[in-house]
Amino acid sequence: MTSDQDEFDLLFKIVLLGDSGVGKSNLLSQFCRNEFNFESKSTIGVEFAARTLKIKDKTIKAQIWDTAGQERYRAITSAYYRGAVGALVVYDTTNYDSFGNINNWLTELKENSNENIVVMLVGNKIDLVNLRSVSITKGKEFADEYQLNFIETSAKDSTNVELAFTTILNKIY
Ligand code: GTP
Ligand code: MG
Repeated sequence: MTSDQDEFDLLFKIVLLGDSGVGKSNLLSQFCRNEFNFESKSTIGVEFAARTLKIKDKTIKAQIWDTAGQERYRAITSAYYRGAVGALVVYDTTNYDSFGNINNWLTELKENSNENIVVMLVGNKIDLVNLRSVSITKGKEFADEYQLNFIETSAKDSTNVELAFTTILNKIY
């Protein structure tokens, strides 16, 4: 017997990219399970989660793939990107280096993915107001220059997490 959750019209694979510690795994857990973990460990290999939701007139299963920001724990690159129709490239708004590395992630993405992939730049951890080191203007400017969608989020208090994923799903479909 199949449950309602197993019925969908379209399956969209979305990959998460970005430096270690920027909050990729918590964006995933917040979107798919409404969970946030203060002490989450670095991801090893690859993890998946999925959520089925209505986008326009269709039931979409969003399958989110998450790997480690650290090279030594990464999933095999080609398999990770294969079939992906969307990518969230994440930095930490309190960590300027993670923003500086976005270029490297975009390069890897370009080398490994379909040219039509929809990319969204995500500045995470905006709940840490006093620790901010990348302004929203900087983020926006970068996104404009590279023609990326842009959003700022907090995986902790779930600000804009739903919006980040639904926006990219709307652009894909
Ligand atoms: P790797 O798996 O090593 O690549 O890291 P990751 O990008 O998956 O980061 P992860 O989600 O594990 O989060 C790293 C740390 O940041 C954890 O301690 C989280 O609790 C914390 N964190 C993640 N998102 C947020 C956020 O929006 N706000 C705050 N305050 N902390 C966050
Ligand atoms: Mg992780």
